[in-house]
Amino acid sequence: MKTKAAVLWGVHQDWDVIEVDLDPPKDGEVLIRFEAAGLCHSDEHLRHGDLVPRFPIVGGHEGAGVIEEVGPGVTRVKPGDHVVCSFIPSCGHCRFCSTGHQNLCDMGATIMDGCLPDGTYRFHYQGQDLGGLCMLGTFSQYAVISEASCVKVDDDFDLSTAVLVGCGVPTGWGSAVHAAEVEPGDTVVIYGIGGIGINAVQGAHFAGAKEVIAVDPLSNKREMASQLGATHTVSSAEEAATLIGDLTRGVGADKAIVTVDIVNEAVVQAGFNAIRKGGTMVITGLADPSKYTVQLPGAVMTLFEKTVKGTLFGSSNPVYEIGKLLDLYRAGLLKLDELVTKTYTLDEINQGYQDLLDGKNIRGVIIHEH
Ligand SMILES: NC(=O)c1ccc[n+]([C@@H]2O[C@H](COP(=O)([O-])OP(=O)(O)OC[C@H]3O[C@@H](n4cnc5c(N)ncnc54)[C@H](O)[C@@H]3O)[C@@H](O)[C@H]2O)c1
Ligand SMILES: [Zn+2]
Ligand SMILES: [Zn+2]
Repeated sequence: MKTKAAVLWGVHQDWDVIEVDLDPPKDGEVLIRFEAAGLCHSDEHLRHGDLVPRFPIVGGHEGAGVIEEVGPGVTRVKPGDHVVCSFIPSCGHCRFCSTGHQNLCDMGATIMDGCLPDGTYRFHYQGQDLGGLCMLGTFSQYAVISEASCVKVDDDFDLSTAVLVGCGVPTGWGSAVHAAEVEPGDTVVIYGIGGIGINAVQGAHFAGAKEVIAVDPLSNKREMASQLGATHTVSSAEEAATLIGDLTRGVGADKAIVTVDIVNEAVVQAGFNAIRKGGTMVITGLADPSKYTVQLPGAVMTLFEKTVKGTLFGSSNPVYEIGKLLDLYRAGLLKLDELVTKTYTLDEINQGYQDLLDGKNIRGVIIHEH
């Protein structure tokens, strides 16, 4: 069949919205009709060269849709099921899945290549194979994906908001709740309030932090942070350092979470300096892979027992967490509607990314037309 998709042919190019060919599902695969796709900064990294995929690639790794058809042997979903995709598939039986770390599933090894688990491709254009980012390619009206990427959700959720629990919400929320292990009474500082950071604010607040300090140079981001649980907002790491000193009698923050769009040495050092003895800094944002962006005084790390860690998908188990977060949304304890600043058609994708770079959006969402 044919499907309209946004393709990236190489670094520093725009998204090219074209009609591509899509094969039917093979063993363990499904045909999904995507209803919505979130505009995460990670896709933008492909354009900068901060994440290096196999080109050409259909973008998009935050997606929600409806199963249209299933291939042989599929047991997790059936036609008509509503699904939020996980940007890391989970096989259920590798070392990582079977020890409660589905976010590190071995099937994730090819998410930058974008092939399906058998090593072949379902998107094609004029004889060329195209990958789907994170084995998904949610910037397409339709895709063939592995059942291991599918998490069935209740039919009554609006997929144009539920889509956010495919990446931004669990990544941010889990950065606070799972990776930083925020505890009641903690002082937490979060650098960068985009689609990820705003959910770290929600997670830290929900976990009972006494103080949630949101750092972002943009006033619209700080305003949203205040609405969703930040107790304090500042525009720079320097201001945050002074504030944390005042709030903690010079002790330091319990947890720092780095969710800026492009991580650099300065923000990592600011987070490290902001935490107390025995404190934890979590780095969620991505960085130019050719650079050493974590440059820290090892003696201070040792003598002050500071922990510095990375996190993928908020260190969550997608199959459990996606449904749990939607239940919290239904209960009014997690905000999703407020996070969607603007919706776009697929043809408007380049405008959507320009708006992200201009700092206008907490999250932009593509609503697919069929
Ligand atoms: N680890 C994971 O599993 C995972 C998953 C998804 C996204 N990410 C990464 O998380 C990062 C954030 O993604 P996003 O979609 O929220 O991006 P975004 O562009 O929506 O938000 C980034 C925010 O950081 C702010 N910022 C930039 N420099 C800053 C600084 N020095 N101090 C304070 N604020 C600063 C910007 O103003 C912006 O509001 C990206 O690098 C993305 O690739 C990681
Ligand atoms: Zn993402
Ligand atoms: Zn696995």
